[in-house]
Parts: sequence; structure tokens; C-alpha cells
Amino acid sequence: MTKKKVAFSGIQPSGDIHVGNYLGAIKNWARMIDEVDCIFCIVDLHAITVMYDPAEMQERILRAAAVNIACGLDPARCRIFVQSRVPEHTELCWLLNTVTPIGSLERMTQFKDKSQQQQENVNTGLFDYPVLMAADIMLYKANVVPVGDDQLQHLELCREIVRKFNARFGDVFPEPQERLSQAPRIMGLDGKAKMSKSLGNHISLIDEPDAVWKKLAPAFTDPARQRRSDPGNPDICNIFTMHRGFSPPEVVQRVNGECRGAEIGCVECKKMLLEHMLKELEPIRTRAKELIAEPERVYSALSEGAAKCGTVAEATMDEVRRAMGLRK
Ligand code: TYM
Repeated sequence: MTKKKVAFSGIQPSGDIHVGNYLGAIKNWARMIDEVDCIFCIVDLHAITVMYDPAEMQERILRAAAVNIACGLDPARCRIFVQSRVPEHTELCWLLNTVTPIGSLERMTQFKDKSQQQQENVNTGLFDYPVLMAADIMLYKANVVPVGDDQLQHLELCREIVRKFNARFGDVFPEPQERLSQAPRIMGLDGKAKMSKSLGNHISLIDEPDAVWKKLAPAFTDPARQRRSDPGNPDICNIFTMHRGFSPPEVVQRVNGECRGAEIGCVECKKMLLEHMLKELEPIRTRAKELIAEPERVYSALSEGAAKCGTVAEATMDEVRRAMGLRK
């Protein structure tokens, strides 16, 4: 029997999980669940590289886990766990630091952006963030990493670390490849930056329908469309990108043609999107809320996931320590 490929991905418990996370990554993960051996991680150790309130952290972890499970990451069919519960992630990160050039980390655009955003807290963890991410992936010898396009540079660095490690210490790790979705970058509702948990420009997966419409109605579209009679360009419209993620093909085709031909207004187009978005998100919202109300079930799934991942992590670390001469 050939061994199943391993897929690894992570999400930070740093705010409400949103439509960008869903279309860019989670929906793709959930689709892969029976095809590959899937490991999903709530990366709390990454989330502490920005200022946060320790009193809120456990609630955020619970919500992130509940939403991911509700999106289809069924703990009976994959492993889902919290990063800090498997201490090998940080141990491997330290060992990988010794093969990671500082120059490569200095080139990371996310580090540069975050350093600008939080000038009062440019901490070493923020700088080392991509190495911890490489450790997450490499600990499970993952082959596939489903992510949005903002993580591609980190993944390229991970491959560089794999190559450097293998060249010095022997062929221990495979080079992971990204798996992008059809919507690898969803812009924020104001059209200024990518949709993000921290910028207040998102639709949360557990927003009630009224709240979704309140956010969608004023959302940025193709600026060339001032009036209904102005032809639009769906290729540059974030609403159309979301249609591609949520609406059936015939609706996507219709919206594409009617926007270009100025036969449909932006409000009408957004109402159609709302209908299909709510149809898909409603069962997720309901299930996530049920799970949040039953934290013990979620915690028990996370503990089971951590125990299973811990066994794999221990075996990899044993191999790594031997390869590096830290154990006989
Ligand atoms: P995070 O928590 O920022 O985002 C989780 C996933 O959602 C994707 N994403 C988006 N996709 C499309 N449009 C958007 N606007 C958008 N915003 C976010 C992200 O690309 C990501 O796939 N560093 C990672 C977490 C991580 C990880 C890992 C991922 C830690 N270790 C190992 C993969 C493998 C992060 O901050 O994701």
C-alpha cells in the first residue's frame, strides 16, 4: 500500500475567522480531508508575537477550533490540535534556527509589514515567526500545505530550510508544496488591504445574516462603476471573487456577463452573493455556535489530536537529534 501524502496547515487564534480564511484556505483543507492525511493546527505560539490579552486567549482558541470543525475539519477524519500542546514545535524551531540565514528572514514582507504596524513591539518572535512555521510543517514531514497567497513567501523559506538541513545533516525532510484555492487572496471590504482578522474589514464566518448584509452593502467594488449603466470589470472586483467562491457556476457566469454589459447593478449583484454566501455559511454558523456552547467536546477533540500528533512529533525529533549528533 502506498503511504498517503501528509497535508499540514495552521490558523492563528487572533480574532474572528473570516470569509478570506475560509475561501483562501479552510474550504480547501476541508475538501482534502479524505484524500490526504490532514493535520490542522491552531497556532497559539504564532499569535503571541503581537500584543494580546492573556485572559482572552483560551476563548479565542475555542472559537477558532469550533469554527474550523464546523467548516468540515471533522476530528474523526483528521487531526486538529493546539500548537503549544506539542512542545516539539518549539524545539525543532530552535534547531532550524541554526540553518536559517538571517538575510532570508529579513526579506520576509510579513515581518516588514508587521514591524511597521507595531513599532513599539518588534520582538524576536515576530522575526523568527517563519522558522516556527517551517518547524510546524517539517515536524510532520508534510508534503502539501493549503494556504492563501500571503503565506507563499513563508513556504518558499520553508523549502530553503529543508534544503539547507538535508544538505548538512542527511535526507530527513521532504520539500512541501503549496495548495492554493481558486480564491487565494480576498480583499477587505473597503478594498484597501487583504481581508484580515485585525483590520476590521472582514465578514466573520459566524456573523448573523443582518450583520453580513450591513457589511456587504457598502463594500468596495470596481470603482469604474459609478452608475448602473457603466460597464464593469469583474476581474478586479472583490465581490466577483467572492461570487466565484460561494455561487454556483451558472450564477458566476451570469454575473460576469451582466456586469461587463452593465445589465446588473452592484446592489443586485451583492444581493445575489448574499443569498449564496448565507446558504453556505448558515450551517457553519449554527454548528460553530453549538460547539462553542459545548467547550468540553472541543477540548477533548483537541487533546486527542495533540496526543496523536505528539507521537509523530517525538519520532521526527528523535530522527532529527540523531542526524544532528545530539543523540546516539
Ligand atoms: P492566518 O491565521 O493569518 O490565516 C489562515 C489561513 O487563511 C489564509 N488567509 C487568506 N486567504 C485569502 N484571502 C485572505 N484575505 C486571507 N487571509 C488569510 C492564510 O493564507 C492562511 O492560509 N502563518 C499562518 C499560520 C501558520 C501556518 C503554519 C500555515 C502557522 N504555521 C504552517 C500553514 C502551515 C497564518 O498566519 O495564517
